[in-house]
Amino acid sequence: MTSSLPHWFLLGAGNMGTLAAWYLTRAGHGVTVVRSGASSDLKKQLHRAGNPELALQLPTLAPEAITGPVRHLLVAVKTPYTRSSLSPLLPWINEETQVLRLQNGLGALDELLPSGQVVEAVSTSAVKGQHPDHEIIAENTTWMGGNGPQPDWFASLTPHWPDLQWCDDIREPQWKKLVANAVINPLTALHDVPNGHIVSDPALRDAATRLCQEADRVLQALNPDWPGHSLDNVLAVAQATAGNTSSMRADRQRGAPTEIEAINGWLVTQANRLGIAVPAHLAIIASLTRGQ
Ligand SMILES: NC(=O)c1ccc[n+]([C@@H]2O[C@H](COP(=O)([O-])OP(=O)(O)OC[C@H]3O[C@@H](n4cnc5c(N)ncnc54)[C@H](OP(=O)(O)O)[C@@H]3O)[C@@H](O)[C@H]2O)c1
Repeated sequence: MTSSLPHWFLLGAGNMGTLAAWYLTRAGHGVTVVRSGASSDLKKQLHRAGNPELALQLPTLAPEAITGPVRHLLVAVKTPYTRSSLSPLLPWINEETQVLRLQNGLGALDELLPSGQVVEAVSTSAVKGQHPDHEIIAENTTWMGGNGPQPDWFASLTPHWPDLQWCDDIREPQWKKLVANAVINPLTALHDVPNGHIVSDPALRDAATRLCQEADRVLQALNPDWPGHSLDNVLAVAQATAGNTSSMRADRQRGAPTEIEAINGWLVTQANRLGIAVPAHLAIIASLTRGQ
């Protein structure tokens, strides 16, 4: 490994964490998975339609075995597990630590780390599966950006991470993805239907319209340059992924916590701060969290 390239500690070697680890190791970066009870290397297989299987072997480390500052940290756990996964590492995180957050939603690190040291990654790629087998469904654009300048390691990634782009204002792709997630995910989870029903079912389309209008009002209040008209993008995403099961629907089907707090919950927090009514978002959060 070239000594100037970073060595990342990875929290969350699930679907996205494994894909990111694949790109990072191809670029010559080091990756060690931090997980409780870790002892031996993690062996992973990434499957890509029509291509030979990609094998990846990652060293692991238990959080209590860390004995020095963490310089580079990749957070790719599902948002409800952020605090519990990150807490044991906090004593080893300082102002020099660079954190790359590869999660949907917003705000999962807000109370845990200063935003200045977080690079946000917004990915429109898709991976599904269960350890150790991860199936790459789509490799699309990933945007990275944050409050600081482009980190020096970024350029080393672009030849190995498909369509990776640096974005000086990460809010635009991040909010666009947030609205798509805040509409498609909870509606498909609640009604237990694939994404395409948002387009084809008039009742779901009406519900999507209301959720988009409320989201646009909040985002326009936060940034007057927000273009609005989110419904167009949401319907396009739902159409392009018509047969897919959203992650929230999948989480709900297996009785796992969903990421709704980091998605719709983030919009509600902003709305409350701004004094904007968001009844459709409040109602869908209540419907999905009832009985959990
Ligand atoms: N999958 C996609 O296509 C996709 C696309 C865009 C964005 N994202 C976002 O990427 C983030 C990660 O999603 P993912 O699909 O990679 O999720 P995932 O496959 O479920 O992996 C999440 C990982 O979180 C870790 N984890 C920590 N504590 C856990 C607990 N108590 N229960 C279960 N898991 C726990 C596990 O890592 P260890 O096995 O290392 O313990 C698990 O493998 C999410 O925010 C998601 O919205 C995913």
